[in-house]
Amino acid sequence: MRLCINIDHIATLRQARLESEPDPVLAAGICELAGADGIVCHLREDRRHILDRDVHILKQTVKTKLDLEMAATDEMVKIACDVMPYMATLVPEKRQELTTEGGLDLAAAELKVSAAIEKLKDAGIKTSVFIEPDPESVDLAIEMGADMIEIHTGKFARLKDPLEIINELEKIRQTSKIAKELGMGVNAGHGLNYLNITAIANISEIDEVSIGHSIIARAVFTGIENAVKDMLNIIRRIRQ
Ligand code: PXP
Repeated sequence: MRLCINIDHIATLRQARLESEPDPVLAAGICELAGADGIVCHLREDRRHILDRDVHILKQTVKTKLDLEMAATDEMVKIACDVMPYMATLVPEKRQELTTEGGLDLAAAELKVSAAIEKLKDAGIKTSVFIEPDPESVDLAIEMGADMIEIHTGKFARLKDPLEIINELEKIRQTSKIAKELGMGVNAGHGLNYLNITAIANISEIDEVSIGHSIIARAVFTGIENAVKDMLNIIRRIRQ
């Protein structure tokens, strides 16, 4: 299972002072040196953390693969087609939210998401859609032409009741299995940390996880290299 690191929170710290450091580009390089399989950044409409400059430089410097997380808007599709990241993950975006709050409602946003997927694919960019763990969304993602899904693990990560956790994990497992059987790439992310990653890594159909907050939070105390290696060690104990 691949580990991709979301570096948005390095940029959040920079933007707290509107200064030039810490630089998420440098952070991305250290993540890669520590063994990360990819770098993720979310260029939000309000540019609250990652800036256009970051995305352009990351495209030049990232040696693994760059996943541009983005809303399915004309502006973002145009930027993606200019930058040409390895892949784009389409997410719902609300201005007031602290972070992405849930998966895309593909039925409601069908036209917008399909149009974005078509343009991204025409440009040669792989596409992933961020969805809740439910098989109907997998069918819609396939109909829309997405190459991959990313299953939203935020609810699983927040739950406290053991039975509810088991139920949510089962939904993630079933959705992963169905998507894999239908030939899709299966990614997962949101709210994953050094404890709950074990349950997710045990779902063999999940190809890749995208983790930001917990790794950058640990890095404040241990450094980015150790924070990435600690997560990789846990994953590698379960998966190759
Ligand atoms: N995947 C998606 C689609 C996200 O929006 C985010 C948050 O930016 C993540 C993964 C990473 O979540 P976290 O920062 O909680 O690890």
